[in-house]
Amino acid sequence: MKIDVATGDRAIVPEGTKVIPIFIMGKRYFVPETLTIQKAMEYAGYQYIRSCGCRGGICGACPTVFRILGDYHLHFCLACQTVVQENMYLTQVPFFPTNRTAYQLEEVDASAETIMKLYPEVMKCVACNACTKSCPMDIEVMEYVNAAMRGDIAKVARLSFDCIQCGLCSSRCPAQIQHFHLAQLCRRLYGRYVLPRAEHVQKRVADIKAGKYDEMLRDLVNTGRETLEKLYVGREMEPQESAGWTPRDASYL
Ligand code: SF4
Ligand code: SF4
Ligand code: FES
Repeated sequence: MKIDVATGDRAIVPEGTKVIPIFIMGKRYFVPETLTIQKAMEYAGYQYIRSCGCRGGICGACPTVFRILGDYHLHFCLACQTVVQENMYLTQVPFFPTNRTAYQLEEVDASAETIMKLYPEVMKCVACNACTKSCPMDIEVMEYVNAAMRGDIAKVARLSFDCIQCGLCSSRCPAQIQHFHLAQLCRRLYGRYVLPRAEHVQKRVADIKAGKYDEMLRDLVNTGRETLEKLYVGREMEPQESAGWTPRDASYL
């Protein structure tokens, strides 16, 4: 089934827009067909206290489950990103209970053993793929769960990078896996132990710790607003094509 994804702010309803029936928690409302689910619910009189955050498909606060009248398929989406459809029966899942195991990143290593110790339920996956089908971010969730079983932390980190922690995958899993916490653990392990360190960042951190910028920062703090504004407006800008570029004053590099 094709789900229309919102492409912009449709709060101002275009003239002549048709109104269609939708069902919010079983109650029928007539709403303009151009609205996202989120705006349609507000149009119908609901006020969000939970289940709404960024309104831009990033925060994962608005996972929604719906069916279309007469169709047995269950659908999953983000309310802020999905346009209403006629006879949509919907409800929102602002929170789904999952356990996040406590750990200190410094005390674990990037290995399959760490994953098994912290999230042993991962081994109970029955490969039903319900998690992938429920993911509003089109993430290959089952594939990253499989990668986690093998201890392939880099693959889990790569596949789960777009996860917004909405919890829909965990709500569907017969093995009771807590996918997004598991994936977050792997991304943390990847960042700390697998990904090569950026040398220029290490050098800059060492410079900061050695006090290389202390005097410059002190001077800035003691500079008046007018001078600061002049400095800001007259600052040298890095060009868009900056390969090989160095600033005129290279003393702070
Ligand atoms: S992986 Fe799970 S928690 Fe993450 S976005 Fe997909 S459904 Fe939501
Ligand atoms: S829903 Fe659970 S059991 Fe099914 S494939 Fe996903 S992780 Fe495995
Ligand atoms: S409100 Fe943030 S993802 Fe929908």
